[in-house]
Amino acid sequence: MGFLKLEKITKRFSGSVAVDHLDLEVEEGEFLVLLGPSGCGKTTTLRIIAGLEVQTEGKITLEGKDISDAPPERRDMAMVFQNLALYPHMTVFNNIAFYLQNIRTSKETIEEKVQHAAQTVGIQELLLRYPDQLSGGQRQRVAVARALVRSPKVFLLDEPLSSLDAKLRAGMRSELKLLHKNLSQSKERKGTFIYVTHDQVEALTLGTRVAVMNKGSIVQLSTPRDLYNKPRNLFASTFVGSPSMNLIEGSLERTNGSAAFCFQGHCIGLGDVGAGVLSRANCAQMPVVLGIRPESVKIAGSGAAGALGAQVITVEPLGQNNLINLQVGDRMLIALVSPDLAIHEGEEVGVYFQPEATHLFDPQTEENLLG
Ligand SMILES: Nc1ncnc2c1ncn2[C@@H]1O[C@H](COP(=O)(O)OP(=O)(O)O)[C@@H](O)[C@H]1O
Ligand SMILES: [Mg+2]
Repeated sequence: MGFLKLEKITKRFSGSVAVDHLDLEVEEGEFLVLLGPSGCGKTTTLRIIAGLEVQTEGKITLEGKDISDAPPERRDMAMVFQNLALYPHMTVFNNIAFYLQNIRTSKETIEEKVQHAAQTVGIQELLLRYPDQLSGGQRQRVAVARALVRSPKVFLLDEPLSSLDAKLRAGMRSELKLLHKNLSQSKERKGTFIYVTHDQVEALTLGTRVAVMNKGSIVQLSTPRDLYNKPRNLFASTFVGSPSMNLIEGSLERTNGSAAFCFQGHCIGLGDVGAGVLSRANCAQMPVVLGIRPESVKIAGSGAAGALGAQVITVEPLGQNNLINLQVGDRMLIALVSPDLAIHEGEEVGVYFQPEATHLFDPQTEENLLG
């Protein structure tokens, strides 16, 4: 039994479908990330979980109890909104204490809980300030502290770092991860986080599992590692990873016992990986889209056996890596290679793909043929 379970949740807004038969099970104590492009239904899904939006169809259970129709205050969840939504006329202390004051908690308990939450996110010195006297990062911490004092069963966070600049975002990301780790080890109530983002780096670094959403549905739910290494379909394969996975349309062909990927008269051996796909499909030739991540595109000398002939168009130093733009036939490919490798613009090279890092997708269904 899942801790929090969404079954066939659908949300329609005057005819348009924002969430489409979405199934999701979240385990207690996990950090689940909903990742997807703008407009794919992430916020709507989170608001439905919080009870701020009512689903058109479907069921939600928390610890086995049906909460589909429960109002937000009965769900024992706390949400950190994208725009933070602090009360401008209240001090930081009162912003954090607001919920506790509302449910008539005693003054001593409020003092204790606010201090504890403020300490957890490192804002003890700011309790008497007003939101407009805080930096973006400090406001962010207040918003998190406001959720913390409720010790909710589930924390819901909607792009909580999107308003911060890149450097601060990376710092806050690590803090959130640490906060979750500490809460998830707590004895009473494990901190269960559902975190919405369109940023794949946030998703991969924070999530114990990541649900990739597209057009109101979850297209893949897996660990960050599996999402990166075993994308189930073309959407997940290109949404995760930067620079994006290279995709080449072509065909998979049997060549005396083994298999090769061919496009525009070029062929590259794929060995057992390709042969398995062909024998499962029971054919000698089939159209496929080959996917290869830039770091798995390898560069050899021109004319190397089994390599594709390519021309180096540009070399972009990124510090840790060089990004190489290559032209093969009329296709452009991106490779990420060590800066120690002497590769020059205009040079003819040989390109090959690590077979175990190669993905093959069905051009029609867009599913990964390797499973
Ligand atoms: N209150 C609303 N009324 C009408 N359409 C809405 C409303 N809220 C969201 N939508 C639509 O639902 C879709 C999903 O929106 P949203 O959940 O905000 O996506 P995301 O958070 O992934 O960017 C979008 O097409 C959006 O325009
Ligand atoms: Mg949103």
